[in-house]
Amino acid sequence: MTVSVIPPIDTAAQVVPAASEFREPPREAWYCAKSKGRLAPGARESVTILGEQLVIGRKRSSEVFALRDRCPHRGAPLSQGEFDGVALTCPFHGWRFGVDGQCLAMPTLVHDDATDPAQVRVQGFPVREADGIIWVYLGSQPAEAPPVPELMLQSAPRCRVAVSVLVEASYDLCVLSLIDPGHVGYVHNSWWWRPTATAREKTKDFVPLPFGFRMTAHTAAANSRGYRLLGRPQTQVDFLLPGQRIERITVGKRTIVNATFATPIDAKRTLLTNVLLSDLPQLAPLALPIRWAASAFLRQDQDILELAQQGLERKPTMLLMGQADRLAQWYFRLKRDYATARRTGTAFHNTLAPERLRWRT
Ligand code: FES
Ligand SMILES: [Fe+2]
Repeated sequence: MTVSVIPPIDTAAQVVPAASEFREPPREAWYCAKSKGRLAPGARESVTILGEQLVIGRKRSSEVFALRDRCPHRGAPLSQGEFDGVALTCPFHGWRFGVDGQCLAMPTLVHDDATDPAQVRVQGFPVREADGIIWVYLGSQPAEAPPVPELMLQSAPRCRVAVSVLVEASYDLCVLSLIDPGHVGYVHNSWWWRPTATAREKTKDFVPLPFGFRMTAHTAAANSRGYRLLGRPQTQVDFLLPGQRIERITVGKRTIVNATFATPIDAKRTLLTNVLLSDLPQLAPLALPIRWAASAFLRQDQDILELAQQGLERKPTMLLMGQADRLAQWYFRLKRDYATARRTGTAFHNTLAPERLRWRT
């Protein structure tokens, strides 16, 4: 579905996405394919990204791979066949494929059949693994794309929690929720996080990043119980294309990285993934309550995003108003400029300028 964005009427810095191309999630981007649980050597599973069914797996030698999950013979999913850590066997007629996609054997052929299995391939996709997250690239120019984010802790992680929720809403709507200060006090209006009644005026400084923007380091909100428990630490938040929010909270010499990634499953569904990593020893015994809170947070977003999506189905327009929606304008502008750069084969330049924004949350 195409969503029109009605430009704000109270600012000169309008962004009016006009072309339809950048309303789609970019294909030239790394997307989070798996964050929960470890893929053991010899394991594989099926994932869908941008409507493409893929099989991701781990070789016996420990590297990960991603292939189109479709046997070229009759279309059967290779993820449903056997995998011995070296090759996948199609469950339909037993064709074997290496993890580079090359067909290795067609067991129904007699030994002097002239057919050459080497002529058959399944498409493979670039894949990366970092911080326990598997990233897949479906486009053709990974060297030009925003890189896989590095969550980087100074010392070994003491706590890692990954949760995700499948939201029946478009990619853009879900990505906007990552950079939407206005919804926090309403959607995440929980006694344990930030009650709406405590809303106050905030001033935040932003600087551009190569593929996004940064809310510069500042002392965390005083009206958030979650931050107060940590003694009001310093926090810095990056937003990066295609749809990544990475918050770094500094507590003394330790760090909590709280990252949220949007993965477009298909035109109507988006996977929101939250990964929290920390080297703070106090968090080690708190993984269970952190998982509970992170899941509750994502479900709060899921509920409102699915309701809003229904409204957008009835009338596909949204308003971007005032400074609280400036980050949403920046998102559409970055996405448009990135789509143009990829289409024209030119280098992407972020044209955002540093800016101070004020809002109430
Ligand atoms: S469908 Fe895969 S071997 Fe026939
Ligand atoms: Fe949210």
